[in-house]
Amino acid sequence: MIISTSPANPSKTKLDALIVVTTVFELKSSPWRKLNSSLSQLCEKANPFHDFSGKENSVLVLPTLGQITPPLLALVGIGKSSDPASHQRSLAKAIRQLQKSSRRGIQSLGIAFAGKPLSADAIAHAVDEATYQFRKFSPASDEVRRPLSKIILFSQTPSRDSLARASHVARAVRYARDLANQPPNYFTPAVLAREAQRLAKQRRLQLQVWDERRLKRDGFGGILAVGQGSANPPRFVRLDHRGGRPGQAPLVVIGKAITFDTGGISIKPSDRMDEMKFDKCGGIAVLGIMDAVAALRLPINVTGLIASAENMPGGRAYRPGDLIPTLSGKFVEVLNTDAEGRIVLADALTYAQRLKPRAMVDMATLTGACIVCFGHECAALLSNNDSLTEGLRAASTRTGEKVWPLPLWTEYQEKVKSDVAFVKNTAGREGGTITAACFLNAFVDAKFPWAHLDIAGMAWTSKEEPHRAKGATAFGVRLVTDWLANQ
Ligand code: BES
Ligand code: MN
Ligand code: ZN
Repeated sequence: MIISTSPANPSKTKLDALIVVTTVFELKSSPWRKLNSSLSQLCEKANPFHDFSGKENSVLVLPTLGQITPPLLALVGIGKSSDPASHQRSLAKAIRQLQKSSRRGIQSLGIAFAGKPLSADAIAHAVDEATYQFRKFSPASDEVRRPLSKIILFSQTPSRDSLARASHVARAVRYARDLANQPPNYFTPAVLAREAQRLAKQRRLQLQVWDERRLKRDGFGGILAVGQGSANPPRFVRLDHRGGRPGQAPLVVIGKAITFDTGGISIKPSDRMDEMKFDKCGGIAVLGIMDAVAALRLPINVTGLIASAENMPGGRAYRPGDLIPTLSGKFVEVLNTDAEGRIVLADALTYAQRLKPRAMVDMATLTGACIVCFGHECAALLSNNDSLTEGLRAASTRTGEKVWPLPLWTEYQEKVKSDVAFVKNTAGREGGTITAACFLNAFVDAKFPWAHLDIAGMAWTSKEEPHRAKGATAFGVRLVTDWLANQ
């Protein structure tokens, strides 16, 4: 996909379709008139029949019948919204509607702005949202349609530089979505580790992989326990991007990658259990972030850590009642084998702190309770450090990947205490997202700034939406890459 800018007249450019993004729809308003007279004439004629308002998330697709060169026109309203997530959704929805309206498909697309142009990141991401399809295992349903390959922005901004940066991040997002959408029979912890190896080679990252033997030797008891019920053994992966000066404390990103979560002996109901292939999305986001960070050549040291296992019931599976020795030396009392993510992350967090990190951020599809709390609109953010929280919230505002804070008060911390071990792996249903984070917090030394993102409600979508296909979203890749780029 090539996105370029052009000073030409959009209504006289040969394109399969033209999109005009507008805040309010007023034919007589100056930015609109200035944009183009043939365009505004066209809209003037069409509008009495369609009543396009220009308000947030409104889209109108029109055949242009020779009035302007592009045969299809879409008006996209963004209203008064300053939320990039809303801009992206509206633009993506318009692109999808255009594709449905065109028999041959849209290969070349122009985008003009009757007002302030959208950011490079918003445009690149909207185009991806609209066009992404996971197609590794099924033939394209509409193969006759040729894919969107050329986009021309009729505006001075964004700059070439910011478009290039946005396209690196967009590619990393597509990469993460492709991996996260892989089925669990093909994508095991070993396959994930091999993928990390491929990425490391391509992007010149340092790589270390812990297989089962090495996990045993080094004492990763949490990851081993969760993985022991599966025929597909667990892995721990470390990737290093050395963009900063040698010795500079690294920023560490950590991900939960359960390639399939049956719940183990505390088995889940079978309804929609297939979606638990997405329980690897935190770890996959780490791969996407490392890809983006390396492609952007960020001048910092970044370490990515992925704790990967398959959570299966079986003759060797771990059980409720087990006491698990973790990498920290502390024991975990297992009360529910379905609360496995926090156990593998405990080992990863312990390892991370040996690197004396400047900050560490973990991402995990950790609790169903997070969906009860926030639905599918934001991730939960829990942190032991206010300035880290602020940094992530700022990145969230810029990218539109929404996060919202929850507390880690001692009242909650008390609830994960165990009578027989250091902590227990569940404190029941109430406040489940917070107590899960408190479990993690028990393994974190307060001198290291740490944030936990529970992405359970954001990592994938179960239903087709107007602006995107169902499946993995790669939530967190843009957010955390943006945060890293601002360190
Ligand atoms: N991976 C799940 C959380 C999850 C469930 C994410 C549904 C997205 C959708 C996690 O491993 C889990 O099973 N958590 C349990 C914890 C409970 C046993 C304390 C949960 O949320 O039910
Ligand atoms: Mn689980
Ligand atoms: Zn899980």
